[in-house]
Amino acid sequence: MENACSKPEKASKFYLTTPIYYVNASPHIGHAYTTVIGDCIARFKRMKGFEVFYLTGTDEHGEKIKKAAEKNGKEVKNFVDEVSQNFVTLWKFLNVSYDFFIRTTDSFHIQVVQKSLQQLFEKGDIYKAKYRGFYCMPCELFWNESQIKEAGGCPDCKREVSEIEEDNYFFKMSKYESWLKEYLKANPDFVKPKIRYNEVMGFLDNNKLGDLCISRPKKRVSWGIPLPFDTEYVVYVWFDALLNYLSGVGFLGDDKRFKQLWPADIHLMAKDILKQHAVFWPIMLRALDLEQPRVVFAHGWWKIGEEKISKSRGNVVNPFELVQALGLKGAGVDALRYFLLREVPAGADGNFSWEALVSRTNSDLANDLGNLVYRTLNMAEKYFSGTVESKSLPVPEEFKAPFLDLETNYAQCMEELDFPGALEKIFKCISVMNKYIEDKKPWAMWKEKKEDDVRSFLAVLFEGIRIVAFYLYPFIPYSSASILRQVGIKKVDYNLTAAKWSGRLTFSISRESPLFPRIDVS
Ligand code: MSP
Repeated sequence: MENACSKPEKASKFYLTTPIYYVNASPHIGHAYTTVIGDCIARFKRMKGFEVFYLTGTDEHGEKIKKAAEKNGKEVKNFVDEVSQNFVTLWKFLNVSYDFFIRTTDSFHIQVVQKSLQQLFEKGDIYKAKYRGFYCMPCELFWNESQIKEAGGCPDCKREVSEIEEDNYFFKMSKYESWLKEYLKANPDFVKPKIRYNEVMGFLDNNKLGDLCISRPKKRVSWGIPLPFDTEYVVYVWFDALLNYLSGVGFLGDDKRFKQLWPADIHLMAKDILKQHAVFWPIMLRALDLEQPRVVFAHGWWKIGEEKISKSRGNVVNPFELVQALGLKGAGVDALRYFLLREVPAGADGNFSWEALVSRTNSDLANDLGNLVYRTLNMAEKYFSGTVESKSLPVPEEFKAPFLDLETNYAQCMEELDFPGALEKIFKCISVMNKYIEDKKPWAMWKEKKEDDVRSFLAVLFEGIRIVAFYLYPFIPYSSASILRQVGIKKVDYNLTAAKWSGRLTFSISRESPLFPRIDVS
């Protein structure tokens, strides 16, 4: 089994990143997906006792962004401020526990980019030459003539490209080609999942790595970071953007912090930007004499039908509207997070639909989890006015295997970014508890005046619910906290060691409104 983010762990820090998103338009469900995956990992790692640093942010330079500002009739800096804020607002809304939000227009980042460029220029890794090629503005990528002919447009997005001929600066990627091949061969876990590793190896085997054009003349592209050694040019957006992973943790500014946090333990992204992260980025780091990140993880795409969800395809799904439409109060955010993480394995593509979201929410969250909590609280209220004091906690035989499996294998699933796998284990415990209620028929026990039996029956359920609420925390933090409060746990230290049968005998409930009422599909 692959292990995406556990090995090798350095001391107790864990540094993870999302891509920094373009600000030419507001965030959609695709951006939310990567950021929620990151949040789930960050919360899990914190529960394991790691000192986590979770970085996200926005990519704000380049022609595409400037054009978007013009189209919106806004001055470019005002425009990027506004759109960047939309990302911050969405991450807060989705309960994303990032530690720092970086913007490529931040002055400390600009300084890092310029200093890095200067360093590479002095080292002889950047040179000036004539450039002729075809440029795809939406992808911010250059292509050669045969690539364009073969694809009939931009090989990535199929749109029209423009032919360009001008003097530019180049980064000597070719110098590092054989090093990269060797590095990847020696580190087959560097790119995950395996299918993406094979893709990168295939790309390197079938293509000769050319030098990377890293400048744009200022007269053509004015919205960018000037090259420190030639201010008639600005730097190529990808070169600027990738460096956020260094500037975000103090590179060339706060040495202590940088040493503590670098290298990144995992860079998250979708497969669309794998080449930049698995080819350009390692070479840039090598040229700067820096350690390589531990893992580059490229997940799949959310699609509608056959189309990737994206602004340019005009099929974006707005996360705010989606949560509102669910009509679940606070738990609506959790329903969306749950759906994204449960519905498809992180490496695969997923097909988004409203029906699938509602059906997942109703079946797993309302029927299974919500009902279990609701029924148990009801019984505690009805039979014992909300306070259950049991003399014993006889863990039923049928609980043992699923709870042991959860305790033993949950962490492994999480390390492998197998979120559906981890959730299946949790929900197996939930379904065993629901079945236990049906089988034990507490209402009959109560009629037969077996009060102590009902007490221990409820204490077992409360303890089981407490345990699953802990394991659910990385996925649905709002609901996890609410469940714990309702079973009487006021101060929670989210630590995996607390997610075990504790022998707790007293539960004093404190009710809140039901978490996941069924959503009416009609
Ligand atoms: N600015 C660059 C990244 C620079 S990182 C140094 C960029 N920005 S982007 O706004 O286009 O974001 C791309 C990323 O957004 C993807 O890699 C993925 O993380 C996320 N997604 C955007 N659309 C997505 C889907 N339809 N499905 C899954 N993830 C999606 O590229």
